[in-house]
Amino acid sequence: MILQPKLDIKKIRNDFPILNQTINNNPFVFLDSAASAQKPLQVIEAIKKTICSHYANVHRGIYTISEKMTDDYEQVRKLIAQFINASSASEIIFTKNSTEAINLVAHSYGSLIPKGYGVLISEMEHHANIIPWQMLRDRWGVPLYIAPITDEGELDLLSFQQILEDHKIALVAITHMSNVLGTINPLKIIIELAHHNNAKVLIDGSQGIVHQKVNVEDLNADFYTFTGHKLYGPTGIGILYGKTELLQTMPPFMGGGDMIDKVTFEASTWASPPTRFEAGTQPILEIIGLGEAIRWVSSIGYEALEHHDLALLNYTLDQLASIREITPIGNPAKRGGVVSFTMEKIHAFDIATLLDQQGIAIRAGFHCAEPLMHRLKQTSVARASFGIYNTFEEIDRFIGALNKIKNMFA
Ligand code: ALA
Repeated sequence: MILQPKLDIKKIRNDFPILNQTINNNPFVFLDSAASAQKPLQVIEAIKKTICSHYANVHRGIYTISEKMTDDYEQVRKLIAQFINASSASEIIFTKNSTEAINLVAHSYGSLIPKGYGVLISEMEHHANIIPWQMLRDRWGVPLYIAPITDEGELDLLSFQQILEDHKIALVAITHMSNVLGTINPLKIIIELAHHNNAKVLIDGSQGIVHQKVNVEDLNADFYTFTGHKLYGPTGIGILYGKTELLQTMPPFMGGGDMIDKVTFEASTWASPPTRFEAGTQPILEIIGLGEAIRWVSSIGYEALEHHDLALLNYTLDQLASIREITPIGNPAKRGGVVSFTMEKIHAFDIATLLDQQGIAIRAGFHCAEPLMHRLKQTSVARASFGIYNTFEEIDRFIGALNKIKNMFA
């Protein structure tokens, strides 16, 4: 069944002037939001307004515009805490992106992992949630375990549980939603199983929070990370949520201005979280932009957003099924708006190039998930991913373009 969207897409698209253009003499169709989403005018305007009226550094100036800037900046922290239902704004740490947030936990919380305890990730992780744990393993000998996935592209929960029971696991680090398969992981079950085995849990929410409402308290997640640029906000800003009791025990990740309590040449002491983890001037304008993106997403509401996402996804999967030469990658029961596929006789890079010639932007390659590609026995796949601004007409154009490409190689 094809669900009809509840959104006023025309109105939404008016907020994205970039979509209203032709590329290679064709109407532009942007199907690469999982790599980075486009930005609504509200985000652009909020940054411009700040630059034009009260831009200054935060936490440092004893003058009017710096105080106003600090106030706006800290309001965003509060807004993000409300957005994901954290119990306090001090549980929200500004980072550069999700990758930096995961590295922060790997360095800082990782240094507290007792000898003999390891970290458990899954086969469907993005490199951002693999490499920091490999570095931890290679630096301090913290073992790294990998939970397998099924052929459908879902986490193999029995094997996951078995690893938790057979090994001493300090931390599970797992994605909310796979950037390749679209799989939405059963976070509550994963977290309950991990906690039952005395492991803490970090959720990489880079893709997940774009497609699903997140409630960290209800999930009982210990850490949750996400990035601004996939959530219709700017690049250069990411978020680490961490439970207060964990953050308070953690040493700093980077040293510098603002993150200190007292400094002498002999020794220094640290500020409390979140400041402890925010060395140097933070991306102030990007934080303002992210705040506006969150207001914008909230004004649309996750119910409508998820409804539209699923409608586009189901419609695309139905349409792709009509092209015999196309093989979708993965078939998870619960997924968000990401569809990866291969096409007989045509390399994914060629698909992407030929689609671009028809004005359609997708991503092709191994999507920063090389071990997952090995598991899937693929070297490169094409991926279409949806944003809130995509339409059924755009999917029709995409399918029409794929049919043309198929005929070229017939
Ligand atoms: N992680 C981003 C993607 O999946 C860049 O495309």
